[in-house]
Amino acid sequence: MSAFKPLVFSGVQPTGNLHLGNYLGALRKFVALQASHECIYCVVDLHSLTATLVHDDLADQTRQITAAFLAAGIDPNKHIVFNQSRVLQHAELAWIFNCVARIGWMNRMTQFKDKAGKDRENSSLGLLAYPSLMAADILVYRATHVPVGDDQKQHVELTRDIAQKFNNDFSRRIAELGVGVEMMVGEEKVNGFFPLAEPLIEGPATRVMSLRDGSKKMSKSDPSDLSRINLTDDADTIAKKIKKAKTDPEPLPSDVRGLKGRPEAENLVGIYAALAETTAEKVIADFGGSPFSTFKPALADLAVEKLAPMAAEMRRLMADPGHIDVVLREGGARARGLAEATMKTVRDIIGLLQD
Ligand code: AMP
Ligand code: TRP
Repeated sequence: MSAFKPLVFSGVQPTGNLHLGNYLGALRKFVALQASHECIYCVVDLHSLTATLVHDDLADQTRQITAAFLAAGIDPNKHIVFNQSRVLQHAELAWIFNCVARIGWMNRMTQFKDKAGKDRENSSLGLLAYPSLMAADILVYRATHVPVGDDQKQHVELTRDIAQKFNNDFSRRIAELGVGVEMMVGEEKVNGFFPLAEPLIEGPATRVMSLRDGSKKMSKSDPSDLSRINLTDDADTIAKKIKKAKTDPEPLPSDVRGLKGRPEAENLVGIYAALAETTAEKVIADFGGSPFSTFKPALADLAVEKLAPMAAEMRRLMADPGHIDVVLREGGARARGLAEATMKTVRDIIGLLQD
């Protein structure tokens, strides 16, 4: 049975500064996957129009995220790094997926409900259709694995639903053209054109919480800068934010089970574990019984040690935007070749006339 070639795809929006949640939930995994997989990493500029249409500095934000990719250790020569809008095929496939996906599927997305708020009728059509573009990003490369933080799980599941409906709706054409790949869907063997991509969400920091409120995720859009550690923060700022992080009055428990019901403590221990590339159990074995006045300085030192070199490298890269632009242009050209090969077949499957 032939199978889809393993391929990793992920994207990050060029909105606001990247923070520790983006790093631990996404970037760090992007870097690690390079050793075992072919990877495509994309700055999804078209996605950033769904919330804010007019940006003053979209080009610079796009370069910033690219600089973060490179500073974290993504190799744009071995893998592909580019910005989404350079490869028109994403938007073309997204349109087709708009006609595959159902409005009800989009209305169920928790991120849409959160972002649209009370006045859904007045949110952009793009915000509603966003997951269709995300599915196109992934499937225009027929990618099989998608490293993301926990908040994107629902969107990757929707991508699978879209792939499955396309495979099913066009099953006869896919078979006639002989362009399908055999795969198991549940108990059933089907011949599909698009893979059912899997989200890669694991490790101790799939959902990093706000430093000010352990019940909210760390986010670019939180009005309090003290709630997050930005990848560009200097050592003093990182130390200050950790010192001011909200905690409870108890010392750390002597067993990880004691973290239950203590969201702030659990978050800081999770951050420590992720930065030290170890487990919460190990952190508790070292720090169990310690007050936060001991644990926080250790966490601050570790965060500075891990993040400061990356911030310095980002600054160095941002001083030469011309180099970043070359990376994106060359990555875009390589991505376009792959995406166009998929789209040629998609157009044939659908029956669109082309040369
Ligand atoms: P975004 O900043 O929303 O474009 O997210 C970029 C990537 O970072 C996605 O894979 C998110 O799932 C991940 N991410 C964002 N915030 C967090 C967080 N607080 N904890 C873990 N991962 C996150
Ligand atoms: N929706 C993702 C986010 O907000 C970004 C994204 C767009 C993405 N396209 C993607 C992530 C494709 C993974 C794969 O974080």
